Amino acid sequence: MNRVKLRFANLEVNFVDREQAIKWIEYWASRGMALPHVIYGPEGCGKSAWLRQGAELLRELGFDVIYVNPIESAFTVELGIEDLRNKLMNLIREATSQTTWGRVIWSIIDIARSLIEAGTRKLAIIVDDAFQVIGIDKAAIYVKGLLGILEHPPASYDKIIAIAATSEGVSLGEIGRHSWSDTAPIWNMSKEGFRQLYEQLPELKPDFEEIWRLTGGNPRMLERLYESGWMVDKVINDLVREKMITPNFTRKWSNHLREAIEDPDYLWYNAPEELTNELIEKNLIIYFLPERDQRFWVDQPPPEQDPELGIGKHVAWQTPIHREAIKRALKEEN
Ligand SMILES: Nc1ncnc2c1ncn2[C@@H]1O[C@H](COP(=O)(O)OP(=O)(O)OP(=O)(O)O)[C@@H](O)[C@H]1O
Ligand SMILES: [Mg+2]
Repeated sequence: MNRVKLRFANLEVNFVDREQAIKWIEYWASRGMALPHVIYGPEGCGKSAWLRQGAELLRELGFDVIYVNPIESAFTVELGIEDLRNKLMNLIREATSQTTWGRVIWSIIDIARSLIEAGTRKLAIIVDDAFQVIGIDKAAIYVKGLLGILEHPPASYDKIIAIAATSEGVSLGEIGRHSWSDTAPIWNMSKEGFRQLYEQLPELKPDFEEIWRLTGGNPRMLERLYESGWMVDKVINDLVREKMITPNFTRKWSNHLREAIEDPDYLWYNAPEELTNELIEKNLIIYFLPERDQRFWVDQPPPEQDPELGIGKHVAWQTPIHREAIKRALKEEN
């Protein structure tokens, strides 16, 4: 497998690790899918990187591939049928705004159907970070559209792989109410995998263990720390602002938040639902972590519990820095 190169702040890095996740792609390539798969995980945990590597692997395995990521304006379109390839490429070239990207995302379903009708036998459709542009309330109906291709194709096919990825916890609730897809979680990188990424960064960097404790293996947080010149405080303060952790919010929930900082499972057992929902909506926590059985996770599952990294049995802070942002906001309160 040709390892893809990825942008990482001002650097170019090689895709590393994620062996288990790559095995999933190989498995799907050999078996196909009965239902579309919706992949979710903490923001910046490496979903897009894995899916780009996956798109490359599927191409090597002889699949026609549509990969689009409207948020990053990234795409790979490898289609054997020239007319349909051109049609999709023209739509992508014109896509500049949320509305026009939304049109691309919806058109993929029609184009996939036309490809099958025209004789394509092996097709991979990967829509990455697309729910924000079509509207999270439409995520489920989009997944149903993907299911329609698998279940009611206009002609016979060998294998179709349909994957959507999201870091929006809210969209999961919407999708989960129906049985139109399989959902599969992916966690931040394992310590050894994360070390391989860390080693690709230039010298004069903090000690690996310190970075691990701060990021919990989240490559986006590593990228932000590196980009800031390792100014941890700046990254935390930026996050407080981006997540709108306002004085009103912290004042309203301060007692509960203090408990959740100590143990995120407090949100599972004792906290008001309104607070939990707000934390999900702000993408600060991952709620409802499945059992730590390798079969249920796209790559290495998180540990059963890790108080230092803010991981509970059922609930986890997306990264330790997300928890630090709440801590910082609470401190400002006093
Ligand atoms: N396995 C990997 N090897 C090398 N770099 C990686 C790997 N995984 C992620 N990265 C890098 O880390 C950063 C964040 O990863 P990525 O964008 O894939 O996360 P994401 O889960 O898709 O984020 P979001 O939730 O915002 O969609 C990117 O710069 C990416 O290139
Ligand atoms: Mg992404």
